[in-house]
Amino acid sequence: MNIRLARPEDLLGMQACNLNNLPENYQMKFWIWHVIGWPQISYVAEDEKGKIVGYILAKIEEFPEDGEPMHGHVNSISVLRSHRRLGIAKKLMIQSQRAMVEIYQAVYVSLHVRKSNKAALGLYKDTLGFTVHAVDKGYYADGEDAYHMRLALEREP
Ligand SMILES: CC(C)(COP(=O)(O)OP(=O)(O)OC[C@H]1O[C@@H](n2cnc3c(N)ncnc32)[C@H](O)[C@@H]1OP(=O)(O)O)[C@@H](O)C(=O)NCCC(=O)NCCS
Repeated sequence: MNIRLARPEDLLGMQACNLNNLPENYQMKFWIWHVIGWPQISYVAEDEKGKIVGYILAKIEEFPEDGEPMHGHVNSISVLRSHRRLGIAKKLMIQSQRAMVEIYQAVYVSLHVRKSNKAALGLYKDTLGFTVHAVDKGYYADGEDAYHMRLALEREP
């Protein structure tokens, strides 16, 4: 298993992984916008044949309108079923978080997660230390609420 920065040529593989794993799917321009706009904070996990088996797609809120400091935001993360519980998502998150701090001096990272998504909540809360910042009612297309979660980021010495 290899975890590395996402490149433009990975976008189809990332999108295929997303279609397999999540109901929140995006047009190709959305994927391109992230990987071109913030090329150092989105990562992929590839197997020995070079197939994308997991990814994290992230962006930086550089000019937040609400007075918040510069921060990162994870728009999507998923790992193929065949490759889960191997620590891949944890590694993808940590790599991206590290780059958010080192390259953009991000103060925290945020994300949304379905209230019912036990696996993702385990990853964010228990493994990585995210806390719930707010509940966004009816955030998802099917009406489910989202937890808006945050994690403070610290520069490594
Ligand atoms: C959530 C997801 C990305 C986790 O990927 P993963 O590579 O299997 O996660 P990891 O192996 O890195 O797990 C790290 C920790 O997360 C938690 N976790 C992961 N899967 C879990 C599950 N099914 N149930 C409970 N906790 C879970 C555990 O604390 C785990 O640590 P442990 O294995 O030492 O107990 C994966 O299940 C997935 O792709 N789900 C579908 C897409 C999705 O929901 N994405 C998140 C949208 S917000």
